[in-house]
Amino acid sequence: MVDLERHGPWALVVGGSEGVGAAFAEQLAADGFDLVLVGRKPEPLAATAEQVRAAGREVRTLSADLFDAGAPAAIAAATEGLEIGLLILNAGANAYGEQFAVGDLGRFQQVVDLNLTARLALVHHFAGPMRERGRGGILSVGSLAGYYGSPYTSVYNAVKAFGRVFTEGLWYELGAYGVDVLELVIGATRTPAMERRGMTFGPTTADPRAVARDGLAHLADGPVRVTAPRGRGRGGRAAQRAATRADRGRGGRGSGGVGPLPAAGAGGTGHRGTRRARLIVRAGGAGVAIP
Ligand SMILES: NC(=O)c1ccc[n+]([C@@H]2O[C@H](COP(=O)([O-])OP(=O)(O)OC[C@H]3O[C@@H](n4cnc5c(N)ncnc54)[C@H](OP(=O)(O)O)[C@@H]3O)[C@@H](O)[C@H]2O)c1
Repeated sequence: MVDLERHGPWALVVGGSEGVGAAFAEQLAADGFDLVLVGRKPEPLAATAEQVRAAGREVRTLSADLFDAGAPAAIAAATEGLEIGLLILNAGANAYGEQFAVGDLGRFQQVVDLNLTARLALVHHFAGPMRERGRGGILSVGSLAGYYGSPYTSVYNAVKAFGRVFTEGLWYELGAYGVDVLELVIGATRTPAMERRGMTFGPTTADPRAVARDGLAHLADGPVRVTAPRGRGRGGRAAQRAATRADRGRGGRGSGGVGPLPAAGAGGTGHRGTRRARLIVRAGGAGVAIP
């Protein structure tokens, strides 16, 4: 559960202007957090900032493009002097789809830059101070696509797999220092970005507010939480099966259903040994290897 004492006073939502990112901002403002919001388009940023102000909280916005190598430094500069207790990495939808052998390598690189390069730089910048303070939270929004390979989105699926595995390690490293880390794996969600891309929304498409609410409620239940409606289409079913299989292989339950997938016994998924790892981490045993 997100907690102002433990994860405040400021939350930085990277990709906090629209969709799930805006829902995170609104819910955090209602919980008493001050917000820094990052996105490219100024209008949605201003609209979400207004919602935060209306809730009586302080807000700063930064219009920056995470495809630019200088964006993480710009975010670091814009947040200087603020105690960022919660980092939410939301921006990351696929920006380019093509068969890899004939596609534009530069555009594939942007998918990598957005999901990997920028996220690693931001985690590196903000996790250190959280570790020193002995409290904080990092929530990374992932995708069911990260559980399987797929034509046309091979790079996107692969970076989402990287993100989840990276988060698992980070969860272990930072847990010993009181910092909660969660990979929130989501499925098809009704966001403006997907609407612009012509995605067909059906009754099983998730609502951004429900997704954000679930992520914040389970911030302390890392390393991985799969939250998605049960897919009825072939892609959705395959994704659910892939996530469930992967989860079972790791010792989780992996049951489906509309709403959050309670993918592991103790809330959130984890590899075999996760509970043991959690015990070790909570006991303060940094650096203890898990077989
Ligand atoms: N929606 C789905 O069906 C779905 C399914 C599975 C996983 N996900 C994951 O959920 C997260 C959110 O996805 P989304 O559908 O809301 O789309 P998105 O394109 O990732 O947009 C989310 C937010 O990030 C900002 N953003 C996007 N690209 C940016 C960039 N290059 N630089 C700075 N800000 C950027 C957007 O504002 P601007 O566009 O103004 O920059 C918006 O505020 C992503 O990580 C995605 O992989 C989504």
